[in-house]
Amino acid sequence: MSNNISNQQMLDTMQGYIERVKEIIPTLYDHTPLACINTYGCQQNVSDSERIKGILEAMGYALTDDYREADFVLFNTCAVRGHAEDRVFGNIGRTKQLKKDKGGVLVAVCGCMAQQEIICDKVKKSYPYVDMLFGTHHIQNIPEYIYRRLTGSGRIFDISTDFNEVVEGLPIHRDGKIKGWLPIMHGCDNFCTYCIVPYVRGREKSRKPDDVLAEAKSMIDAGFKEIMLLGQNVNSYGKGLDEEINFAELLRRINAIEGDFRIRFMTSHPKDCTVELLEAVRDCEKVERHLHLPFQSGSDRILKAMNRRYDSEGYLNLIKKAKELIPGVTFTSDIIVGFPGETYDDFKETLRVVKEVGFQALFTFIYSPRNGTPAANMDDPVSREEKGVWFSELLAVQEEISKKNYEAYVGTTHRVLCEESVGEGRLSGKTSASVDIEFEGDESLIGRFLEVRVDKFTNLLEGTIV
Ligand code: 5AD
Ligand code: SF4
Repeated sequence: MSNNISNQQMLDTMQGYIERVKEIIPTLYDHTPLACINTYGCQQNVSDSERIKGILEAMGYALTDDYREADFVLFNTCAVRGHAEDRVFGNIGRTKQLKKDKGGVLVAVCGCMAQQEIICDKVKKSYPYVDMLFGTHHIQNIPEYIYRRLTGSGRIFDISTDFNEVVEGLPIHRDGKIKGWLPIMHGCDNFCTYCIVPYVRGREKSRKPDDVLAEAKSMIDAGFKEIMLLGQNVNSYGKGLDEEINFAELLRRINAIEGDFRIRFMTSHPKDCTVELLEAVRDCEKVERHLHLPFQSGSDRILKAMNRRYDSEGYLNLIKKAKELIPGVTFTSDIIVGFPGETYDDFKETLRVVKEVGFQALFTFIYSPRNGTPAANMDDPVSREEKGVWFSELLAVQEEISKKNYEAYVGTTHRVLCEESVGEGRLSGKTSASVDIEFEGDESLIGRFLEVRVDKFTNLLEGTIV
């Protein structure tokens, strides 16, 4: 561990502050203090928030979804695209009145957006009612920040990056009981030219396989039926670990854990998607038959400018290989429309790839310049309006493809993990290829694997338990 601090020392320090906060809480509040955690962005943030909630509960806070009744309001933010940032600032603004109306309220901002110096300065200057702002490497320090602020310290701003290690053993409050997140690595080394993640999440760090396996086992023992392995780039898992291991091997080891459960993973980078990994997906019966493989653009010129390190032919070959090796596999992807310098001809290349692959679904984004990334300094002559027109064209093309894909399921039967009630006696679940199906059934079936036959496609797949 860097700075010569062991993981245990860090947990001990945290525990010390947890105890101190627990001691002073009854002197400050005449009720159990409530914490409202607002989470923006990707699953990594959702997973971080589960740990933040665990730490707050350990200090004696209870959780609430209503910020107006909270004594601690936290914003765990996302920096990937601009509009997420605007939303956060709007919501932070609403806590000003809350603090006026009620004493003892603390407001905290953390996550990817907070990690940026420019945001830290803005909050310092223009949001005086924010008590603490900290970056992505400091979750374990929350008890210390709260203790200091509750005992009269000035406002706290901590976005230092000298500590960039995975902290093991933090308390956790899991939001669900059936599907759970399991981060296997943090950060990203890829530096795609449009992306802020490597700057705000730091360098790639993999968790030790034993820690990952222990967490997976504890989730399965607790009754979880689906484990989502998380990372910005899961398939480069293992880099820098003492033990030699890659993502394919990790999948095999988790698959070998006894129990009836499903393994999912995201996000995979096409350049790290090896045949060995595809074979592991094929061989491991618990691993979903689905790959989320963002290709971002179909134009080789744009892919180069994005620093993606594959071309459209390489991507299409990979898809072909996956289809060959894994029967029934489905694909989803992320696409950016309107990268600086992209022309309509480049965009047509993206449409070509979309049509050739036949994705189940797409996550599509209009390019959003991010301060500090190389792409933010590139010429970007195409207007937002024109990008919007291309974007709509892409959605229309994909809608047709999704519809065709869904219609092909009618008459087939699948093993479905029943996830939730959608009301009126209906349930919804996912196949192993990550396809959603709705069907009639009793809520007691939630959390069970069921055989479901697809009867029809309306705007969704509807089926019957067989
Ligand atoms: N603008 C638009 N989309 C972006 N993404 C990442 N950075 C940007 C940006 N600056 C998209 C990519 C990535 C997904 C998580 O978000 O498609 O895969
Ligand atoms: Fe961003 Fe590229 Fe890393 Fe994904 S792989 S987080 S897009 S830099």
